[in-house]
Amino acid sequence: MTHAFAPGKIILFGEHAVVYGRPALAVPVTQIHADVEVTASRDAQTWIHAPDVNLHAELNTLPSDHPIASVLHNFFFAFGISPIPSLDISITSTIPVASGLGSGAAVTVALFRALSSFFFLDLTNEQINQQAYEIEKLHHGTPSGIDNTVVTYARPVYFIKGQPIETFKVGAPFTLVIADTGISAPTKEAVGDVRMLWEADKAKWEKVFDEIGEIVRKAKEIIENGEWKSLGALMDANHSLLQQLTVSSPELDSLVESARRSGASGAKLSGGGRGGNMIALVEKERAAQVSEALLSAGAKRTIITEVA
Ligand code: MEV
Repeated sequence: MTHAFAPGKIILFGEHAVVYGRPALAVPVTQIHADVEVTASRDAQTWIHAPDVNLHAELNTLPSDHPIASVLHNFFFAFGISPIPSLDISITSTIPVASGLGSGAAVTVALFRALSSFFFLDLTNEQINQQAYEIEKLHHGTPSGIDNTVVTYARPVYFIKGQPIETFKVGAPFTLVIADTGISAPTKEAVGDVRMLWEADKAKWEKVFDEIGEIVRKAKEIIENGEWKSLGALMDANHSLLQQLTVSSPELDSLVESARRSGASGAKLSGGGRGGNMIALVEKERAAQVSEALLSAGAKRTIITEVA
């Protein structure tokens, strides 16, 4: 039997613009994770058990583009494993689905890792990341690759599409409250809508992406220098550019407002937007107060996390 896990993630700055070659900053969130167990099966079939999404199915009964089946087929094909062996695969996850916290990427990475150990392949992070990016492309259209990268390496990442992975140093730890609107919002749709905007007026949206890129570069410097208190204004500025890109929503805006009113130094949506999660930067001592305010304002759940 082999077991593997992968954490959730949040994007601190730069979502959407990162698809267009600008940098973005993301960090793992280890309080939430996907876990996979692989065992040899006694009957001559491969069974998948994923109780969180009510899935108990034999691999051959799933369409080949099913998110979990596609990971398995991709793995067996890429590593020349044929015929498909008899396995029992259990998948559990505490990462809310379609909420901007990297649940799809985490399940994919945990599956690749667990299968890699089961078949004694000893895949490197680089190999796992590459395979996970192929899966992201199947399901998300034109992803930048930031989600699979931060989830695979489980480290803070300064990410530029197509460039070697670069991590960043956190000069002084800072606290975030993550709040879930409870609205599931597939990243693919938001990314597709931004692409339509961009195609209709490239000059206008390239300027917005440039502004976001500038915010990301400043934020990286501030985080590395340990001056996190000045990140709040950058979060607010990034959120308003994401509003222009039409990827916020009334629920996200209302949580962002309520975080600011209850003492956060800044707040923004995180991930694809339209629903999913927002993040608020807080003094550690104020985290509980801001979290309470977000729950009263309609957040379905909150996570307090330290970026260190
Ligand atoms: C999703 O977590 C981040 C987006 O920028 C999409 C991507 O980078 O692939 C919205």
